Order: sequence, then C-alpha cells, then structure tokens
Amino acid sequence: MIIKVDHLTKYYKIHQKEPGFMGSLRSLVNRKYYDARAVEDVSFTIDEGELVGFIGPNGAGKTTTLKCLSGLLYPTSGNVEVLGFNPFERKHDFLKKISLVMGQKNQLWWDLPAMDSFLLNKEIYEVSDSSYKKTIGELIDLLDVKDIVNVQVRKLSLGQRMKCELIAALIHEPKVLFLDEPTIGLDVVMQQNLRDFVKEYNKKFDATIILTSHYMRDVEQLCKRIIMIDHGKVLYDGNLSEIVKKYATHKELRIVFQKPIEKRELARLGKITEMNGTRVVISVERTKSNHVAAEILKKYDIEDFNIEEAGIEEIIRDVFSNKNK
Ligand SMILES: Nc1ncnc2c1ncn2[C@@H]1O[C@H](COP(=O)(O)OP(=O)(O)O)[C@@H](O)[C@H]1O
Ligand SMILES: [Mg+2]
Repeated sequence: MIIKVDHLTKYYKIHQKEPGFMGSLRSLVNRKYYDARAVEDVSFTIDEGELVGFIGPNGAGKTTTLKCLSGLLYPTSGNVEVLGFNPFERKHDFLKKISLVMGQKNQLWWDLPAMDSFLLNKEIYEVSDSSYKKTIGELIDLLDVKDIVNVQVRKLSLGQRMKCELIAALIHEPKVLFLDEPTIGLDVVMQQNLRDFVKEYNKKFDATIILTSHYMRDVEQLCKRIIMIDHGKVLYDGNLSEIVKKYATHKELRIVFQKPIEKRELARLGKITEMNGTRVVISVERTKSNHVAAEILKKYDIEDFNIEEAGIEEIIRDVFSNKNK
C-alpha cells in the first residue's frame, strides 16, 4: 500500500472581519474565526501502480486532499501516509519520491528556457548526471518537445508550457505523482497528448498516480478506479464500470426507423433525448428497457437498433446533482 488516508479532515480557518472601519479595528483586537470545511472524514488506500481518478465539482476538496498528501497542508484531524512517510514532515527522502503538478500553477522560471529549470531541479533532487541524461531524453521524446525546451518559457503556449511543467516535475522519476487538473485549459489534441503521456508514465515506472480532473474524458480513458468527492466527502470509491451498474437508472435506446415517426407517439415510450429525421435516441428506465424495446421492434419497421448504457458523464452528473439536494 503506497497511500493511506485515514479519516482525513481539513478545515480552513477563515478570519471574519466585522464590517466598517470600527469593525476592522475591533477585528484586529478581537479576532473572530470560523472554520470552512474543505475535506471531511475522507478515507481510502491506494496500491502501487494504481492510476486513480479523483473527481468532483469545483470546491469539492480535491486540491486540499492532494495538498495534504504532498505535505503542503497539515490535516485538521486524521492521518495521511505516503510511501510510509508523514508527508507534512517534508523529508528530503519523501520529496525525492513524489511530485505534485498543478495545472493552474507553474514552477518553471518564466524568463528562462525550460531546460534551465530542468537543470535546477536536477540539482535540487540530486539526480545523477547519467540518470538525468536518460530521463530527460525519454521525457522529451515522450512529450515531443525537443524544439521548445530551449525557448524562453514566457514565449510558449499553455500546452507547451504544461508539457515542460510535467518534465520539470518528473526529472527525479517520482514513484508517486499527484496531478491536479493537468489538462485544464488545453485544446483537445493537447489534452489527448497529455493523457497518453500519463498512461505511459504510469506503465513505464509503475508509478502510483492520483489524477484530478473535471473532464470526464481524462478519467474515462485513464482510470479503472475513481474516487468521487463532493462537499469534502467521498460519495463513491470503486471501479468506473461498477458505477454504471450502481447508478445508471436509465438506458438509451438508439433507433433508426425506416421512416420518420411522430415525436408525440415516441414520447410515450420514454424521454426523447435526440431526434434527427429517422434517428432517435430514447432514454428509458432500466427496468423497463427490455419491455419498451420489444414493443418498438414489434410495432415499427426498424433500420438499426441498439440498447446502450447511459454515458458515464451523464451518470456522474446525476450522482452529484442528486447528492447535492
Ligand atoms: N486557502 C483556503 N482558505 C480558505 N478556504 C479554502 C482555501 N482553499 C480552499 N478553500 C475552500 O475549501 C473547499 C475545497 O477547496 P478545494 O480543495 O480547492 O476544492 P477543489 O480542488 O475540489 O475544487 C472550497 O470550499 C474552497 O473554497
Ligand atoms: Mg482544485
């Protein structure tokens, strides 16, 4: 077991200022605080080599959890263990084995080429010349950035910069990688590049990776297991495929009729989610789907017919919106 989170709770202390000038003065003398709950009683364990998707809406507590795991924040209560270390001690031996990459924050030197930042990290992490040479070569190849690592970072596009950020974070070949929204703001092609890379890194180094994202695509393609979190609490922890079984209340009937059918007529059968000439998608309650399918096949002339599970994105949206009520 590489990561162990045991009843982790994190509250942020927020200084509450009284309104007005006199209020400010009073607040200085008599500080009032309240606790903002960010993570509450979260527990999970992660084994070596797992690539886990950590998902949830904005403000769910994902970044806070990752910061606790990498030792940037101290838990209000509960315990966190990574590679046998207490992250908060920030021991050099610990830092040499992990990395936290945040999509919205950069660690590269803005006015220098990325290559200079790589060299700096080489020194910080005490990477030997030979292993630096090997790793940097591999990373540059994998991410296809040979032509840009010698260009001033400020002149790079967001996607190019993100690739360099990753390299900088990986020069010491961390065994544990926390990726916080690494694809945010990137175009579709670049998102795919990064996904491929994360997958490759996971395999090549048997690295343990937690990936947060609010693009379901990232998680769908990369992670077998997901942990869903909202309002600081874990809603689901398990296989992505199981979640469909557990939460999908509806199935989709995708039908191509031989000739157009009146919308009104089909609406009796379920919720029409798409209609384009003879192509229709009807969302039907799971338990009724076979029955409705039989009825359609009996009654109409059909060109093509499929029954599908609802899309993962939709299911997850449902889970979050129901639990929020
Ligand atoms: N430094 C901070 N001070 C006070 N509240 C914070 C701070 N950072 C995050 N929060 C609050 O904690 C909650 C969880 O935030 P965060 O962990 O960043 O969520 P996520 O990464 O899932 O969007 C949110 O309500 C957020 O507003
Ligand atoms: Mg976040």
